[in-house]
Amino acid sequence: MRSLTDLPVEGSTVALRCDFNVPLDDSGLITDDLRIRAAIPTIEFLSGRLAAVVILAHMGRPKGKVVPSLSLAPVAQRLTELLGEPVHLITETDPLIVRQEISRLAPGSVTLLENVRFDPRETSKITEERMNLAREWALWADLYVADGFGVMHRAQASVTELAELVPSAGGLLVAKESKVFSTLLQGADRPYTVVLGGSKVSDKLGVIASLLPRVDNLLIGGGMAYTFLLAKGLSIGTSLQEPDFVETVREFLQQASNLGVNLVLPVDFVIASEFSPDSDTRIVKADQIPDGWMGLDIGPETCKDFSRVIQQSKTVVWNGPMGVFEMPAFAQGTLSVAQAMTESNAFTVIGGGDSAAAVRLLDVDATKFDHISTGGGASLEFLEGKSLPGLAILEGNQ
Ligand code: 3PG
Repeated sequence: MRSLTDLPVEGSTVALRCDFNVPLDDSGLITDDLRIRAAIPTIEFLSGRLAAVVILAHMGRPKGKVVPSLSLAPVAQRLTELLGEPVHLITETDPLIVRQEISRLAPGSVTLLENVRFDPRETSKITEERMNLAREWALWADLYVADGFGVMHRAQASVTELAELVPSAGGLLVAKESKVFSTLLQGADRPYTVVLGGSKVSDKLGVIASLLPRVDNLLIGGGMAYTFLLAKGLSIGTSLQEPDFVETVREFLQQASNLGVNLVLPVDFVIASEFSPDSDTRIVKADQIPDGWMGLDIGPETCKDFSRVIQQSKTVVWNGPMGVFEMPAFAQGTLSVAQAMTESNAFTVIGGGDSAAAVRLLDVDATKFDHISTGGGASLEFLEGKSLPGLAILEGNQ
């Protein structure tokens, strides 16, 4: 993949794809700006070399229509604060007017185009439609820089087609994330431990299949653990379950044993009589979940087991919470995994999404992790060993 230093950036107009799909609260305020902060080094690299930087980004899934609540206006404001320079949002859609506005930009300035997904061609399944949109951007873009790691798994006009039309390179964030995930797939220091959680095992089948042959320890918590318990013939009360995947999970258990992988399931749980922050709770062994009760967090013995394995590892990757961390009564498992990672000497990676959100909500020191990915789906697909279309284009363009 070409890097920023391979491009003739000075004095050019650069189309920079970022992933600014950030969570907003009901009043439209950004509740987590990790993805915006992560883009700053590339933006400053380009603007510091007097490029006019025009950022392409999306918010949510507006399905090709203008949805005012999915405007990038809050992002423009946050960028303005972080860069200490005004970042103008271009809301105009006529390609010739956009081109005129961009031609007047000062060298070193930073500008944001309104949500690229307001145009149906961005996410069209028809390549020619996506290409037509990319051609409009190519009217003003001298160069293309891909720095939206979180969207690299999408074949969309601003991710794949534009990269084919103008000289392109990966930005600093994309280079960093790609390096970390390539190491996790191919060259992680051992012992190598993966901690998986989250509600659905069906979301993690590809990752488990890809990682089982590569890791020493696989720790399973969260809602997905109960389907593993089912596969072992245990009763799980009203806990989350995906009976359709019991057979697949049973095969994973067998495969782990054949490969000598230490697949660790919870030995105890915090259970509740109902899904509510102030429900009755109990701590029970994994084989003692009563009918009518549901597991909502891993229990204290499991926290100790998981922490012990994490402490003995040289590489730890974590994806998915251990329980319903948004409710304090069920946050301890997630907190204890996060803390064990911050206290270990291992190379520690959070694979994006809910685990990164948990670290913030539970006030864990984020600086103590070696890498917190900005990718949700993209980081999972990378770990599954899939080719990400956005990266594949950049690699093909060398
Ligand atoms: C994400 O939030 O994971 C990325 O921005 C991709 O969004 P999408 O799943 O709507 O394509």
